[in-house]
Amino acid sequence: MSKIFVDACLGKETPYTPVWMMRQAGRYLPEYMAVRAKAGDFLNLCHNPTMAAEVTLQPVDIVGVDAAIMFSDILVIPDEMGMDLSFVKGEGPKFSDPIKSQEDLDRLLGGKEAADRLTYVYETIKIVREQLADDKALIGFTGAPWTLATYMIEGQGTKTYNICKKMMYTNPELLHNILAKVTEIVKYYLESQIEAGVDVVQIFDSWAAAIEPSKYDEFSWKYMVEIADYIKAKYPHIPIIMFPKGVAAFVEQGLVYGNFDVFGVDWGTPMALAKEKLGEKYVLQGNMEPCRLYSKEATKACVSSLAETMKDGRHIFNLGHGILPDVPVENAKYFVKLCQELSRRD
Ligand code: CP3
Repeated sequence: MSKIFVDACLGKETPYTPVWMMRQAGRYLPEYMAVRAKAGDFLNLCHNPTMAAEVTLQPVDIVGVDAAIMFSDILVIPDEMGMDLSFVKGEGPKFSDPIKSQEDLDRLLGGKEAADRLTYVYETIKIVREQLADDKALIGFTGAPWTLATYMIEGQGTKTYNICKKMMYTNPELLHNILAKVTEIVKYYLESQIEAGVDVVQIFDSWAAAIEPSKYDEFSWKYMVEIADYIKAKYPHIPIIMFPKGVAAFVEQGLVYGNFDVFGVDWGTPMALAKEKLGEKYVLQGNMEPCRLYSKEATKACVSSLAETMKDGRHIFNLGHGILPDVPVENAKYFVKLCQELSRRD
């Protein structure tokens, strides 16, 4: 059966513009909190395919999105490379032993060996695919090598990125070695996700904007292009969504090379500008400011305007970054319904 979400990613005509929400499986849903409480630690939830599948499916049933995104986290890759990951309540992710040298990097697992350890992700995908309706898509994902490297080098989230940027300017060779090692794993990781049953893959470059524009291609974009080339050569029918958050300033330069199908537009970039600069090459995804979900009026104004801007363009509705935990579920449902209604063409 054809999936409207996949068709839209590939730029085909669809009866309406499909919608999903970044971080749609998460803490704003009481049903998620119930499973999360049963799992205890967040990583236990990622490691338990039955529970991870359950929370993956919740937003499809509860808020009516057109695609499910597999429940996991981008940081399971460095965890399986041998870096010790934990989620500290109120503080976010932490690695106890961040990479400081080539020796540190050499100690970590790489390639297929690392990707093969992520069996719980592939198992989750298989369970979801059995339970998900045939006309709904399942999105797999990975962190971009750059975004993953920021955590692997800093050991946690950062506002300044000073440790990884110090490496960028004083020891670029080591940074490139880290990025290349992660890139290799990501290729196998996405391939295994596709073999397990995902219909679409998304690459999250959440910290793209931490790199100055003239260095972005060298330290991030070109690695994602390499990943996309690898996947497209084997699976030309699988759409690839690229989400490089906060690159409004770079859009002027035209990030127009690479085998991606969809460009995720963050909420800081006007959709009309993205359409002008990137709409020819890519289907555009996005880009409502997630905090608009606090107000139905603010949501409606934005969805109407996006539907108008993109009425003659190729588009997928989404938020311009992740949904926040205190958004009312009713408003999330309202957003999804409105997107589907206002973009109807049949
Ligand atoms: O519904 C979905 O989108 C699927 C699940 C998903 C999670 N993380 C679950 C999660 C996805 C796609 C991610 C991606 C992710 N993880 C990114 C890229 C997307 C983005 O938001 O920019 C990043 C940077 C991470 C790293 C990460 N994971 C951080 C910084 C945190 C802590 C911050 C926070 O929101 O609490 C996490 C934890 C995390 N990953 C949670 C969820 C639902 C919250 C954990 C909980 O339930 O307590």
